[in-house]
Formats: sequence, structure tokens, C-alpha cells
Amino acid sequence: MNYDREGLIAAAKEAMMKAYAPYSNFYVGAAYLMEDGTIYSGCNIENASYGAANCAERTAIFKAISEGRRDFKALALCGGPKGEVDKACYPCGICRQVLNEFCDKDMEILVATKDGYEVTHLAELLPHSFSKEDL
Ligand code: THU
Repeated sequence: MNYDREGLIAAAKEAMMKAYAPYSNFYVGAAYLMEDGTIYSGCNIENASYGAANCAERTAIFKAISEGRRDFKALALCGGPKGEVDKACYPCGICRQVLNEFCDKDMEILVATKDGYEVTHLAELLPHSFSKEDL
């Protein structure tokens, strides 16, 4: 697939720096590339009532869905303490389930590392998933 992977990682990093994470100090950014080249990005948003926190992946995907978009082509993620990206920050279980609702199993998910990125897919992150096809 042909798209600017480094550019999508850069968009995730830019979003990560907008994280509101005063409790964990762990900043996360997500950027979804749409089929027409539009990027929807988002950060994690925490709350004094800790359980009300929202992950970056869901902030960004809900932005896109609420704008009427479903044409997800790729996702880039990055995260680390105070935005220092060291090791790969993979999506949490809740976000994997939300991704499973809207994204293809083979959509590329780029996860930033210190020096570059790793590539994975939902098929790998959420095998034997429960989805709308199971209802
Ligand atoms: N976080 C995300 O934004 N995405 C993930 O997939 C993992 C965790 C956020 C939630 C919380 O604000 C902080 O990282 C520490 O868990």
C-alpha cells in the first residue's frame, strides 16, 4: 500500500504532544489516515475521576466517525512518559475492540518506537474477536 508512513507517524506525534495526562504523565497520540488522504488525530484525555479517561485511539476514531467517516486506511500510534517515545505503545484492549468495529482486520497499524515504527494489524492484536458478524 502506498502512503506516507513517516508523515502519519509525525501526525500521531503532534497529537501526542496535546495529551491531557496530568495523572499518568503518559502521553499518547493517534492518527488515522482516510482513503482520500484526510488525517484524523487525537490524544489521550484524562480526568480527576480516573475512570473517565479516554485513550488517544478512541478520541481520534470518534472524531472521524462523528464526521461521517468510515474509510479508514491506516493508523499510526505513539506514546511514552511525557511524550518521550522509547518502546512501542500498543493499543489497549478497549481500543482494540473499538477498532474492530470500524477497521479492516488487515489495516496497517504503525506503532512508533525510538528509532522508527513497528507494523501490525488487528488480525494479530485481536485474534478470535467478537464482532458484529457474530451477532
Ligand atoms: N492510553 C492511550 O491513550 N492509549 C492506549 O492504548 C493505552 C493507554 C492512555 C490512557 C491513559 O491516559 C494513559 O495512556 C496511561 O494509561
